[in-house]
Amino acid sequence: MAVNSPAGARAAQPHGAASLAVEDLVAGYGDVLALDRVTISATAAGITAVLGANGAGKTTLLRAISGMVRPRRGRILLNGANQAGRSPEDMARAGITHVPEGHGVIAELTVEENLRLGMMSWPGMTSRRADRAAALAEAYERFRVLADRRRKLAASLSGGERQMLVIARALVARPRVLLLDEPSLGLAPRVMTQVMDMVMRLSKESGITTVLVEQNARAALAIADHGVVLNVGRVVAAADARTLAADVALRHHYLGF
Ligand SMILES: Nc1ncnc2c1ncn2[C@@H]1O[C@H](COP(=O)(O)OP(=O)(O)O)[C@@H](O)[C@H]1O
Ligand SMILES: [Mg+2]
Repeated sequence: MAVNSPAGARAAQPHGAASLAVEDLVAGYGDVLALDRVTISATAAGITAVLGANGAGKTTLLRAISGMVRPRRGRILLNGANQAGRSPEDMARAGITHVPEGHGVIAELTVEENLRLGMMSWPGMTSRRADRAAALAEAYERFRVLADRRRKLAASLSGGERQMLVIARALVARPRVLLLDEPSLGLAPRVMTQVMDMVMRLSKESGITTVLVEQNARAALAIADHGVVLNVGRVVAAADARTLAADVALRHHYLGF
């Protein structure tokens, strides 16, 4: 599952690396308080891992950042400007692309049709054909396996290839901030490692600010710059990835490795 690095491609994002921070965020569902005054700062142009057990609030955090869950309190700062309370469409236009948990490809569409869906958040219908073609060419250059299968139905792809298509589709949206919810879920260990490697390379080469939610803390910390650990809606630790991975007590209590 080779991932290629087109020379210079995406090296410079149109707006530069985005800074993302969440301050004092409170969010939930009815009586369930899923996030209780959560503050995190994502590494600009790097990977921030969000870790914690099932039910910790990781998915809700990503939903709040992408506008799918409306925060009850707190700020979501994109390059210093508060975005809390904006709609998912507005968040997408601001450059936040969310790949939800268990998000699949559309099996009945071809690889290329799936990729084209990623362009739907481009502003207006004014984008030129040439821009669309360039975005596809870039995706195919980076993901050769998708280029070879562009006319095939997504149903014919393996689990790892599908996950690659999901991430390629997110990149076609040209995000400034990429939110990935458990991209390794359900993948065989070897394929999981390949997907993690791909996420790391994309981050290094594209300057996208990536927030990576994972239950597989060991794998996520291996590629992240920074990590945040949630427990029942609260931040219990935040530090550089190496420090978290070396903390035996933290690993034992919250990270499961
Ligand atoms: N749609 C929902 N309705 C009600 N409660 C929810 C919903 N989604 C999540 N929750 C609850 O919110 C809390 C945080 O869940 P979630 O953000 O999905 O955690 P994680 O992604 O870390 O597993 C849990 O207590 C969960 O049961
Ligand atoms: Mg989740």
